[in-house]
Amino acid sequence: MRVIIKDNSVDCSTWVAGYIAYSIKKAKPTAKKPFVLGLPTGSTPLGVYKELIKLYQNKKISFEHVVTFNMDEYIGLSPDDKNSYHYFMHENFFNYINISPKNIHILNGLTKDYAKECEDYENAIKAYGGIDLMLGGIGSDGHIAFNEPFSSFTSRTRIKTLAPSTIKDNSRFFDNDITKVPSQALTIGIGTIMDAKEVIIMATGENKAEAIRSTIEEPINHKCPASILQMHRYGIIICDEEAVKKLSSPTIQYFKDIENRI
Ligand code: GLP
Repeated sequence: MRVIIKDNSVDCSTWVAGYIAYSIKKAKPTAKKPFVLGLPTGSTPLGVYKELIKLYQNKKISFEHVVTFNMDEYIGLSPDDKNSYHYFMHENFFNYINISPKNIHILNGLTKDYAKECEDYENAIKAYGGIDLMLGGIGSDGHIAFNEPFSSFTSRTRIKTLAPSTIKDNSRFFDNDITKVPSQALTIGIGTIMDAKEVIIMATGENKAEAIRSTIEEPINHKCPASILQMHRYGIIICDEEAVKKLSSPTIQYFKDIENRI
């Protein structure tokens, strides 16, 4: 597992956007063999989306042959609800780049048949040959996508009931009213994330410090779903200084030394 520690969230976003652009270019995607990108919502990746839009506007990158799969969606919110992840992705990213609508995949939170929706999503990912690069954030309880603590490490796309701490954290988008936050979501599984060829998890801010300590310094543990990244062949965790506040000094020094020598 590679751990990159940057001074602040802006530097994290710049690095991640640059890495995504580099990976897309390196793959030389075509209509027949597109680059498959897994994407998150939340406040953490906002800077990455801004940076990618800039790279697109400056003609440094094209999304013509990029296919995206979003990690999750709330149950019961329509795509035009401002709190839906459909709305979020279009407002913050897709509306400003040259991605084709047919290449955008987001779970349908209004489906009547959750099992079919989830199975179709897994099959669609498989049909593209899997996810090349999966970007994710992390919840303060260590969740990735909406895989809450104690989710199975082999889980696939499915319906999940959200943990009270996640509902509380996400209520800031719902007028700080926990009763307005949907209690369930559709989410790709931990197994789905682990199948991606590369995974990058971003964490910024002090409220992620405990989740990052547990992810990096504790043994793999389903109480902290992100800790499974220790088992990924190409897993990267990128944090700002605030998010590594609870790591021990030798751990911080170890990873900084390695990055300084790359
Ligand atoms: C939600 C999303 C996660 C995201 C997490 C953290 O629960 N389902 O994918 O990582 O929030 O969000 P933020 O980046 O806003 O802290």
